[in-house]
Amino acid sequence: MRKLSIQDLDLSEQRVFLRVDFNVPIKDGQVTDATRIEAALPTIRYAVERHAKVILASHLGRPKGQRRPELSLAPVAEKLSALLGQSVLFMPDCVGDDVKAAVHALNGGEVALLENLRFHPGEEKNDETFSRQLAALAGLYGNDAFATAHRAHASTVGITRFVRQAAAGLLMQRELEYLSRALNPDHPYVLILGGAKVSDKIPVIQNLLTLADTILIGGAMAYTFLKARGQDVGASLVEDDQLDLARRLLAEAQERGVDLELPVDHVIARLEDEAGSAQVVTGDIPAGFAGVDIGPRTVDRYRSRILSARLVVWNGPMGIFERPPFDHGTVAIARAVADCPGTTIIGGGDSVAAVRQAGVADRLTHVSTGGGATLEFLAGVELPGVAALTDKG
Ligand code: 3PG
Repeated sequence: MRKLSIQDLDLSEQRVFLRVDFNVPIKDGQVTDATRIEAALPTIRYAVERHAKVILASHLGRPKGQRRPELSLAPVAEKLSALLGQSVLFMPDCVGDDVKAAVHALNGGEVALLENLRFHPGEEKNDETFSRQLAALAGLYGNDAFATAHRAHASTVGITRFVRQAAAGLLMQRELEYLSRALNPDHPYVLILGGAKVSDKIPVIQNLLTLADTILIGGAMAYTFLKARGQDVGASLVEDDQLDLARRLLAEAQERGVDLELPVDHVIARLEDEAGSAQVVTGDIPAGFAGVDIGPRTVDRYRSRILSARLVVWNGPMGIFERPPFDHGTVAIARAVADCPGTTIIGGGDSVAAVRQAGVADRLTHVSTGGGATLEFLAGVELPGVAALTDKG
């Protein structure tokens, strides 16, 4: 990597401001999925073992510059403390004299967590005064918040101008290392894209059309492509304003010799009676029915392509996987990806939830913590939170 790594810093007895992504689901004051907290543990432990004074900072949700008690990071401090096996000092704010005094009193190896950065409007505005206030807490900066690296905010970009060194954490490095393979691929390279909207994935398709050998499309976005190709899609979700673009992408794939596959059969249902009316059809979808999952023949076709890949990158579920039995296609694709002997990379909240639901997450090469950040990276966009880090000398 051409950026400084946290491993390049002399952390001993130094205050380090570590930007993490603890934007995790919380219900009734309890963290319900600690994946992102667990993902940051190696960097936190690394710093603690080197006797750094660790100041953790994150956003949670979108409070829009207002103090919203339900978006406090207090429950995260509790969870982190249990996972780390040491106490975590929770600060009721992220800037100000009291916070400054408290972090200056930390001993080497101690950990503090600041309150939600987005309680201050300066965070999302990448405001210089707020950036300086954050930087006043520590001389060194580490960024392990890959999932927030597509945001040019005070804690991801502004602060880096006012600290001595700004380095990538271990999770950040791991994410960049694996996701870079999607842009410098081994072949055959199979890209699997699903989810509701074509419009969310257009920059990714455009960027990867030049690199992938095969693109397998599923989820509701498939119906926009099928309609663009002239097929009847019944009451399926379609983005009519994307039909022209879908046609152009299909033509471009053909010109480039990319094998862009659309589902050949579908699980369909009447929206007013999803479970009772569910059935499998090949080809056109009859009026009144919506596609809710890929069908078994599509699963077989996609599986055979996935198994012969040397690199698979997957973003987005194949159907309404959160409503069984419409999870069959997504779960079958998750298993196929797990069975692929090549490198397998999954990104995006829904696909990650799907691989967990299928029980195969630990058989994949890399499960990204990023949602929007992963998509932007795959689209070839330079992430501002990475660009802002100190270049290696
Ligand atoms: C995410 O969950 O994708 C990141 O934490 C970024 O959150 P945001 O979309 O609210 O900036």
